[in-house]
Amino acid sequence: MEKGVLVAVEGIDGSGLTTHARLLVESLSSQGFRSVYTKEPTYGPVGQLIRKFLSLPNPDNRLLALLFAADRVWHYFEDPDLPGGGIGGALEQGYIVVTDRYKYSSIAYQGSFTSIDWVWSINSVVPEAFIIVYIDVDVDTAIKRITSRAKIEAYETRERLSIIKETFQRVLEIAKQNGVKIIHIKASEPEERTIESVSREILEKILSALENP
Ligand code: TYD
Repeated sequence: MEKGVLVAVEGIDGSGLTTHARLLVESLSSQGFRSVYTKEPTYGPVGQLIRKFLSLPNPDNRLLALLFAADRVWHYFEDPDLPGGGIGGALEQGYIVVTDRYKYSSIAYQGSFTSIDWVWSINSVVPEAFIIVYIDVDVDTAIKRITSRAKIEAYETRERLSIIKETFQRVLEIAKQNGVKIIHIKASEPEERTIESVSREILEKILSALENP
């Protein structure tokens, strides 16, 4: 029986997932919760292979869907960098595991260009998260942030991110029907918010979700 809590931080590229997932872990830890940050794609063997494909302009989405699902199985059951040897082990030890992307990214990204049902089904090998924190930024803001980076990856175009963002809405609806708690954070509309304001809102909503499971 798992004693911890799995929090998946999700959104399109350029939405600030890594910043906010890390800040959340820092805040939870300073409030005395045992919390650990982790991310997908991982730095494990399959994650490294995924990064090679992501550097191509048009990688095959079926192939990536299978690789991301395999990477996720490794992350959940075999990642030696996590306490307990994986997300599952860390949850058994009572950690709040904050993962910077999880299966909902696969369903939104690869599902957009293959089949949502198929991607959902190959990811049923790992459990649902308890909470999804969805960081909602508009595509223009996301593109502005991405283009200031050194390296652009396969999905990081305006057209692709617009499609993926729409699919995320459906993913959130289905996840909610499956009993996952959704924390939806509007980070750029009506105006771009500061990191502090967004991270404060995330923390408050997580604490309230933990108090009222
Ligand atoms: P990203 O979060 O940007 O990782 P990194 O900072 O290590 O590059 O993820 C890389 C890309 O992979 C990003 O465009 C989102 C995409 N992605 C998927 O398409 N499916 C998935 O299942 C995951 C986890 C990520």
